[in-house]
Amino acid sequence: MKKRILFGFASKGGTGAAMAEEVYALASEAVDDDSVDLVLPDELNNIVDTVLEDHVSTLLVVIASSTGQGDLPQNGIQFLQKIEGKNLNKTDLAMLCLGDSNYTTFMDGPHALLNSMLRAGIRLVDQIVEADDANNDAFADSTDKFIEGIEALVRKWVKNELSESIEPIFHPLSSTSQKAKRASKYEAIIELVKSSDHVAGVALKIPKMPEPAFEITILNESDCQSSLTRFEEIQNGVLFEPVSSPIYECSVLNGKRLTSVKAEKQAWEITLALDEKTRISDKNRKLQCGDCVALFTPNDSDEVELAMNALNDGKNVTVLTNGKKRPSWFPRASLRNVLSFDVELRTPVSKTMLGHLMNKTENADLKRRLGEFVSREGKELYRELLDKQVTFVDLLVAFPLLKPPVSVLAYLKRQEYLFAIKNAEFFRIFFIYFLLQRRWYSIANWIDYSKSAYFRAVRIAFTEISLPKAGLMTNQLARIIDNLNENDCNSPPFCPNKNRIILECREPPPNLFRLDENPEIPILMIAAGSGIAPFIGFLDRIGQIRGKEATLIFGCRNENSFIYKNELNAKVENGTLKNLFVAFSRENNKKYVQDILLDEKDLVKELIERNGLIYICGDGAGMGIGIRNSLLEILGDEKYSQLMKNKTIREDLWR
Ligand SMILES: Cc1cc2nc3c(=O)[nH]c(=O)nc-3n(C[C@H](O)[C@H](O)[C@H](O)COP(=O)(O)OP(=O)(O)OC[C@H]3O[C@@H](n4cnc5c(N)ncnc54)[C@H](O)[C@@H]3O)c2cc1C
Ligand SMILES: Cc1cc2nc3c(=O)[nH]c(=O)nc-3n(C[C@H](O)[C@H](O)[C@H](O)COP(=O)(O)O)c2cc1C
Repeated sequence: MKKRILFGFASKGGTGAAMAEEVYALASEAVDDDSVDLVLPDELNNIVDTVLEDHVSTLLVVIASSTGQGDLPQNGIQFLQKIEGKNLNKTDLAMLCLGDSNYTTFMDGPHALLNSMLRAGIRLVDQIVEADDANNDAFADSTDKFIEGIEALVRKWVKNELSESIEPIFHPLSSTSQKAKRASKYEAIIELVKSSDHVAGVALKIPKMPEPAFEITILNESDCQSSLTRFEEIQNGVLFEPVSSPIYECSVLNGKRLTSVKAEKQAWEITLALDEKTRISDKNRKLQCGDCVALFTPNDSDEVELAMNALNDGKNVTVLTNGKKRPSWFPRASLRNVLSFDVELRTPVSKTMLGHLMNKTENADLKRRLGEFVSREGKELYRELLDKQVTFVDLLVAFPLLKPPVSVLAYLKRQEYLFAIKNAEFFRIFFIYFLLQRRWYSIANWIDYSKSAYFRAVRIAFTEISLPKAGLMTNQLARIIDNLNENDCNSPPFCPNKNRIILECREPPPNLFRLDENPEIPILMIAAGSGIAPFIGFLDRIGQIRGKEATLIFGCRNENSFIYKNELNAKVENGTLKNLFVAFSRENNKKYVQDILLDEKDLVKELIERNGLIYICGDGAGMGIGIRNSLLEILGDEKYSQLMKNKTIREDLWR
């Protein structure tokens, strides 16, 4: 059979096109045989019909880049469309992908193309090469590797020495690999839920389960199409503590990525302009750096559909709550609205939820499996579900046969906690909310009321939750920042978009996480990750107060996640920050903020002697507990409790 080699590119700026020519020139060195046709490089769209002729054995050499937000350049789009559903199993592929890891859609264009070709049966005969334009040297190395390797590759191909098809390995930063990582982590959770060999064959002792707090029933089976048009209709317009403000509709003033794109966890900053009308109507509110604001977003639409199918075969109906404790926020509503706006679909499983599901399940295998989770014998297994934060939605994914009644919605609760002190005892208080929660964020900008009577904009810093699932709110905010320059701001109803982010406020929390502006009072600030947000505003203000002494202990994984590095170094240089300690938890000399605290115990003791204050902000589960233990060690139980009680130690912790 005759052989031929085709060179195709999808290139916007011309880099890919130029490389295709170099590749062609080197490949031609390797072909001294008339039985092989070497065809001059061309745009992929122009060669698609030739590629689809299947009577010639073909090596297709592709160079493709990304443009826009992870799109394939125009001169590759038709190629992609035309090969969909076609058969390319006589074609072999070698591919160079071009992209820039400053984009979260890193390599998405070439990957979409590669995936389509693989679906059409093309055989990858050499590992793909991915060149990252964010780094000049690495980009040149990767493209050279591909260009220089082509001669040897072509020689082998002509001699039929490339018989194996290769699995593509994606660059660790590419969104394909991020998605694969997320999928595999999620897959592991689903596997854990499904696996059934833990307490197999053992008789189960099932404890008696309490009744749900209220009943939920389907009012009628007729189709129900109601949709909400105003935010005030959400959750029946009921305001829950601690929310205590009108609804602000904000637009995004600006936003940026705070971490390097290489950081494992991405952190971002976004500044929101508050709408004028609400600001004026709410004129007595004086938000300040260190207070929190709440942002709202509905549940993920795919998860809503999954729950709709499980609960009522996808049919939208009216549901009703009964019982003394029935919640005011959902007296009668459409099932889709309840699932979208009212309940926390990502609620971690609880014994009562699992027990209810078990009681209502007829399928014997499933009943047994759910019974294992609730039983005394399955104690370890249940603990593992909690550790992995398995949620109600995960159960629906793991058990497609699970068809719970709508009454299960009464078990969807979100837990949040804060730390408090009562009678000199330290407490962690759980708040249990039945309804879909707003997400809280600490204000990071100092608001100068001497210049304006009102606050006009609030800035927040947040960590994008990506594993095992994209965080409901943080993922949307990150995508908004990513696409700030795009005009298109279509988003499903009440999902945040750059012109409309719904924000509410609460009164300052009881521990009053606000800067004490007295110049005589030194402060120690301790934060990890995006917990540094309020301290950025504090430091701006401290810079204006002559003589106020400030120390910061900041923790992050490594240099890539050292956010606000330049700003903090500048504060050290101009004397605003007396001491800056940084704990890198994933570098050689691994340290956490609590370790630095122990190293600097003399500084802590001296600060307390001088009536200084300690502010702690960030993750409560890991960092909060670590710091508490260090402070207990430095100060002793009694002193620590006293300082918590008199608010010398001020915490703003979350999980
Ligand atoms: C007072 C306060 C201040 C805060 N300030 C900040 C801040 O300044 N910056 C910042 O980045 N974050 C802050 N947070 C955390 C923030 O409110 C969000 O929880 C976080 O951004 C995740 O939201 P998400 O919608 O992206 O993720 P979600 O989709 O809610 O998931 C987040 C994680 O929580 C787990 N989870 C999901 N549902 C539940 C549930 N029902 N109960 C328990 N765990 C669950 C998931 O497994 C996942 O790992 C603050 C929280 C509080 C309470
Ligand atoms: C407007 C524009 C948008 C881009 N979008 C992406 C993207 O979403 N993902 C990515 O990995 N690279 C993106 N890039 C980077 C290019 O893919 C990269 O610079 C490539 O080397 C360009 O090759 P070309 O000149 O052949 O088009 C973008 C570049 C530009 C100029």
